Amino acid sequence: MAIILDAFVSTCANRLAALVEERVVLVLGVKDELKRLQRRIEMIRGVLEDAERRRIQDSAIDTWLNELKNVMYEADDIIDICRYKGGNLLEDQPSSSSNPPVRCLPPLLSCVTTVRVRHDIGGRIKRLNNRLEEIHKDKVMFSLKDGGSNDPHMTRASARMTSPLLDADVVGDEIEAAAAELVKRTVSSKEGKQHQVVAIVGMAGIGKTTLAQKVYNDPKLKNYFSVMVWTCVSQSYSEIELLKKIIRSSGGDYGRAESMEELQQVLRVVVAGKRLFLVLDNVWQSDVWTNLLRVPLQSEQGSGRILITTRDRNVTKGMGAVHIHEVAQLSINSGWELLCKRAYLDREEDLLSLRGVGIQIVKKCGGLPLAIKTVAGILATKEPNKREWEKLLGSNAWSMKELPEELRGALYLSYEDLAPELKQCFLYCSLYPEDALMRREHLNIFWVAEGFVKARGEKVFYN
Ligand SMILES: Nc1ncnc2c1ncn2[C@@H]1O[C@H](COP(=O)(O)OP(=O)(O)OP(=O)(O)O)[C@@H](O)[C@H]1O
Ligand SMILES: [Mg+2]
Repeated sequence: MAIILDAFVSTCANRLAALVEERVVLVLGVKDELKRLQRRIEMIRGVLEDAERRRIQDSAIDTWLNELKNVMYEADDIIDICRYKGGNLLEDQPSSSSNPPVRCLPPLLSCVTTVRVRHDIGGRIKRLNNRLEEIHKDKVMFSLKDGGSNDPHMTRASARMTSPLLDADVVGDEIEAAAAELVKRTVSSKEGKQHQVVAIVGMAGIGKTTLAQKVYNDPKLKNYFSVMVWTCVSQSYSEIELLKKIIRSSGGDYGRAESMEELQQVLRVVVAGKRLFLVLDNVWQSDVWTNLLRVPLQSEQGSGRILITTRDRNVTKGMGAVHIHEVAQLSINSGWELLCKRAYLDREEDLLSLRGVGIQIVKKCGGLPLAIKTVAGILATKEPNKREWEKLLGSNAWSMKELPEELRGALYLSYEDLAPELKQCFLYCSLYPEDALMRREHLNIFWVAEGFVKARGEKVFYN
């Protein structure tokens, strides 16, 4: 199974940190070498996030990471060996305590054994340190960026800002119907029930933002709401900046207010008595509503609607959404229409001759508009003939490595956003055969046994 180096290296570094404090290390006489190893690993750890991201495009970085992986396996083995052999030596040593030694070799034999074990292990660690030193030098060559702390709570999302402007090439009856339904709900729900949350959910690239844009731009909303605000939350949002943006877009002035409390107070006054329509695009955590916006928006008279888009259904629950719209895949016909538009296919004879293979391409895109647009972008650079299109259909461009930046960026963003240990948990699922039943409680146990789950505070592993 693929391992996520970032997670594996962190585990190794932590195990090493614990080991250097143990008595087994003293008896082996390898404390200094182990500390060197620990330091080197810590130094490399910082650039792993950047390296993991870039390995897809850069085969040299991929090779570098594979070499590092082998070194880390060796480090992992060495930790176990130190514990085992060092433990044996400790048992053989005459104990300074009152407890009698468990096992005792004749003194000379014991001495020879100790020297040999120390020599073997010391040499192994030294060789590993040398290999790691080489790897460390290469890191400079690749100009890998140091991401600083490996705190899993730190943002890793590449925030993609969105705007309420709608793409001209939107296709499909599905989105028309969904937008009409959402608009109806938004403008017809009862007054008094303040600031209700409506959610659009679906996987990456399926068209959540596009649907929200369609709703936002509907003339009925413009007539109904006195204040309309679009804001992209993203994973790395700043609470202060978000509050400022909403105040500004609502026509307010936050003056010298700087703290969260002050800004919440300003927002409360600014939206008081107004009908507010607020879009929170790309929400990752419900606390943007529960901790930040709910109090200032709910505490004043005024009728507001919050429309959110999110990939995560749990977020909608956490925000108490009164309605959840799940975005459907594009139908084959709509997908074909989008493919033609974006591949600039308009001659009647091309449309006829390429329809068959085009539909197969649309199917392969799984009804994802983002995928269809991207593939269409590739087709637009080719001659509009069946041979070229079939070549693309059968090509390995569908594999991750060859995916164009836009598609990779979006479809794999969910994966990339995961903390290293969660990536590791996720990849672990690939060990299950296709269609196998995965029992949650078993999977939890496996993850814990593999060491992917870290204890945090008082929480037990299984929480
Ligand atoms: N019905 C549609 N017709 C044409 N293009 C569409 C349609 N829906 C979405 N797209 C296009 O597909 C791409 C992805 O759509 P969008 O950004 O709305 O997805 P998303 O679900 O919000 O993704 P993410 O979870 O990454 O935010 C965009 O380029 C958008 O213009
Ligand atoms: Mg979006």
